[in-house]
Order: sequence, then C-alpha cells, then structure tokens
Amino acid sequence: MIRLDKFISDACAKTRKEAKALIKSGRVCVDGHIVTSSDHRIGEDANVTLDGKKISYEKFVYIVMNKPKGVVCAAKDKNVGTVFDILPQELVRKGLFTVGRLDKDTTGLLIITNDGELSHSLLSPSKHIEKEYYAEGSGKLCENAEELFREGMSLGELKLRPGRLRVLFSDETQAKVMVTISEGKYHQVKRMLYEVGITVTTLKRTRFGALSLDPLLAEGSARPMTAEEVELLSCSRNI
Ligand code: URA
Repeated sequence: MIRLDKFISDACAKTRKEAKALIKSGRVCVDGHIVTSSDHRIGEDANVTLDGKKISYEKFVYIVMNKPKGVVCAAKDKNVGTVFDILPQELVRKGLFTVGRLDKDTTGLLIITNDGELSHSLLSPSKHIEKEYYAEGSGKLCENAEELFREGMSLGELKLRPGRLRVLFSDETQAKVMVTISEGKYHQVKRMLYEVGITVTTLKRTRFGALSLDPLLAEGSARPMTAEEVELLSCSRNI
C-alpha cells in the first residue's frame, strides 16, 4: 500500500507538493470516488484517475528513443538540451536515466529507464553486451582495418576487446561501415575508426544487445518499450 500523494508524484512526475495540491483540489479519483486526502493509502493496482484520465503505476518503466543530434544524455545541462527535454510529457516521471550515453552528435537507439539493476547489468563490462553502430566518415580506410577490429586494437594505453567492422562502402576519400563493440569507452567508435583512417561524420546506434532500433521510430521520437522488447533487453544480459 502506498500513499496517494506518492502514487501521483511517482506516476505523473510531480513533486509531492504538486501531487498534494492536485489531490486537494478534487481532481483525483480512486476506484470511482474523489479522494482529497493525500495520506489515503492505496494498492498499486488501484484504479486512479486524474481529471478523468487513468493513471497507471508501474514500478519500472522502459522507454526506447531514437535519439536525434543536438541533445545530450544528461539529467540537466545549462548550455544545451537533453534527451529528457524532448521526452513526451506522458513518459516523464521521476528517477529516469539513460542506459549509457550517446554523444551529442550521435543518433539512434537509446534506452531510458528507472530500473537500476537492469541498467547496471547491461552496462557491466563483464557481460560484454554488443552494441552496433552505422557510421559514415571521411578518409581512406586502411587495408587491414577489419583485422585490427577483430584482434582488439589499442588506443594509447587502452587495450580494447575485439570488435567487428563490416565495410558497406569505401573508396579513396570516404567510407560507410557497421561497427560492433562490446564495451563503451569514451568516444570509442569514433576513436577506433580514426585509428583505421576514418574521421566519423555520422554515427547512429542500431542495436543494443538483442534489441534493434525500430525502423518506424522517427528520429527524436520515444515510446514505451513493448513487453517483447523488454524481454529482448533482459535476455541480452544472459547471452
Ligand atoms: N562511440 C562513439 O564514439 N560515440 C557514441 O556516441 C557512441 C559510441
């Protein structure tokens, strides 16, 4: 059983004070009855409405975003917009964070959740969860690039795990490639491609573990994951 003001505050991303005010003003119904006292206790499966619209309370939420360029994966930034600024209002709630980060100029599959345990295991270096990226860049790809990726290259002191490079197109001045890595070091894909002659101009994440980017999810859009997607993500930890 939880207090009604906590339920409203968690489920609708309101502060406790805002939730209390909503309840007091008679806009909240529980199982068909207006309730105006914030300390009223309800079960997580109670039928709660705000202004007649049903509010559902799930402990964990899983959101998939096709991140656009120009926003950062941070809770707040004083100079630039964040992925949370562009999240549709109905998906906003307290305690959300991104599972790992994409650079400001990287697009593609981004997972947003409040499930710390899942996030932790997806990011754990010991799990080696694959992430796949599509990249375009300028420069001439060196001849043994695929082998260097396969062997696990070194970036200065840093020895990387083996990755995969699949060349879709390359000529004297540019390349289009798919890159698969199983760790998440700072600017890793850009740095790896730079080592093999390519300066990245476009980078898009297309897969995280067993979860691929939904081709119908437009850049800048986000939606709750389907149950199948949550399952795929969860399974990724055990592959
Ligand atoms: N590698 C990068 O270089 N940038 C990203 O955003 C993700 C992986």
